[in-house]
Amino acid sequence: MAVLPILVAPHPVLKEKCAPVDAVTPELAQLMDDMLETMYDAPGIGLAAPQVGVSKQILVVDVARADEEPRPIKMANPEITWESEELGTYEEGCLSFPEQYADVQRPARVTVRYLDENNEQQEIEADGLLATCVQHEMDHLEGIVFVDHLSTLKRNMILRKLKKLQKLSKQKKKAA
Ligand code: NI
Repeated sequence: MAVLPILVAPHPVLKEKCAPVDAVTPELAQLMDDMLETMYDAPGIGLAAPQVGVSKQILVVDVARADEEPRPIKMANPEITWESEELGTYEEGCLSFPEQYADVQRPARVTVRYLDENNEQQEIEADGLLATCVQHEMDHLEGIVFVDHLSTLKRNMILRKLKKLQKLSKQKKKAA
C-alpha cells in the first residue's frame, strides 16, 4: 500500500465530473487500498479518487472513532437510491481544504448502491455521520466540493484563508 499526495483546492481535477468504472479490476482495488491508507494517514474519514488525481467514480470512507475497530467501506460507481426528507447538519471539513470547516445541511439518511472491492453490488443504509460522509465524497465524484454548498460570501472567505495558508507554508518551506 502507499500514501498518495492529496490535491488541495483550487485544483482543476477537483472540479471534474468523474467517469464510472466498467469493473473493479485488481488495479482499482489496489487504488482503493492506497486511498484508505492515505485517508488514515491524513487523518480523515473519507476520500474520493479525484482528491488523489484520479477522475474515476471511486471513494473510501471509515467513520469509526479512534477507540473503535476500523470499518472501511470501498465504493465504485456509488448511486443514491433513496434519501430522507429529514435533513441533518454537520460541520464538514475536507482533506482538499486543510483546516477549513463549515456547517452543511444534507439528507439525514440515504440508501447507497455501489460496487465493492470484489466487484459485487452492495447496498447500504447510512445515517448520521456516515450518511453525511458518503454524500460529501459522492459530491467529489461530480466535481462538487463542500464549499459549493455555502453562500458565495462564506465560500470566498474559505478560499481566501486557504490561499493565505498555502502562501505561509510555501514561505516556511523556503525558510527551512
Ligand atoms: Ni472532501
